[in-house]
Amino acid sequence: MTASRDIACRVRGFGAYTPVDVLTNFDLEKFVETTDEWITTRTGIRQRHRLAEGQNASDAAAEAARLALADAGMEPGEITHVINATCTPDYLCPNTACLVEAKLGIVGAMAFDFNAACSGYVYGLSMARAIVAAQPEARVLLTATEALTRRLNWADRTTCVLFGDGAGASVITADGQGALLEDVLCASDGNLGGLLTIGGGTHTPYAKGDPVGDDFFVQMNGRDVFKHAVRNMAAISQDVLARNGLTIDDVALLIPHQANLRIIEAVGDRLGIPADRVFVNLHEVGNTSAASVPLAIADARAKGVLRPGMRALLATFGGGFTWGAALLHF
Ligand code: UT7
Repeated sequence: MTASRDIACRVRGFGAYTPVDVLTNFDLEKFVETTDEWITTRTGIRQRHRLAEGQNASDAAAEAARLALADAGMEPGEITHVINATCTPDYLCPNTACLVEAKLGIVGAMAFDFNAACSGYVYGLSMARAIVAAQPEARVLLTATEALTRRLNWADRTTCVLFGDGAGASVITADGQGALLEDVLCASDGNLGGLLTIGGGTHTPYAKGDPVGDDFFVQMNGRDVFKHAVRNMAAISQDVLARNGLTIDDVALLIPHQANLRIIEAVGDRLGIPADRVFVNLHEVGNTSAASVPLAIADARAKGVLRPGMRALLATFGGGFTWGAALLHF
């Protein structure tokens, strides 16, 4: 057993934020060749939230962080590390974690971004666990925030109907309070990265005044992503259960990445968990990438579906490809 697994790493506070502006499937019908019927039957999504003009991923993260800190009963000044998951940062530089830090009035924390696409929150739990293992007095603020509507090609019906904006946040410590992070496992396969991309990096060397190409926006081979998502989310969930001597019967609630209801149902079937123990909120928020799992956790707690004493299994999959699973005992 590694040193980090011996430390009682706990998630002491949770927060989530979705922008006020809502785009329903019927709104989309007005400007892209799609129907509410297609979107709901193929994905389960009914609406998604969109950041207001001038509001960015860092603003959403800061809102979620304030709620997480309040939930933890902590002040911003107590935070030692701000780690932020996003694939839609405000800028390439400065990193979004520094922007969040400034918005919260934190100075002097270690602050950095990382990109594991939709797996960002679970990857972040793994990093936070490593930080508190190395430095038990650390108080880590993990934010996971996305401004995906800023990188959608609204003429591409195969992607623009799927994604939404939002943010989630957690405070992670080893001080004995909060939900116990029993274990977390993360994996990836970079060979498959081309199946789900968002441009805007230096791969495409734009010159001043150049128009952006299709590659600037989310591009995805949906069918292939679907297959890999089901296979890997189910497999890594089984792995994390097995290495802790648990079975799916020991899990009170599966909280999967909210990408597509058919993916969620297929993962649930493979794991053999009844549908009433699988949390779904994608009909309200769409696919919010890194924010998806923490938004779902906050929603499940608010709805009373996730309660103290329950063990939740988090499972996620995203661009990269990346995937992961975690066991959180509330
Ligand atoms: O967050 C992690 C990454 N993302 C995911 O996990 C997403 C994984 N993939 C999926 O969720 C699904 O593959 C999609 C929802 C993206 C697509 O569902 P699908 O059942 O795989 O549909 P498809 O791509 O096979 O398309 C079926 C048909 C096509 O028409 P034809 O070729 O059969 O005539 C598409 O052109 O549906 C058409 N179509 C649409 N029709 C109306 C695709 N998008 C739309 C649309 N409205 N928005």
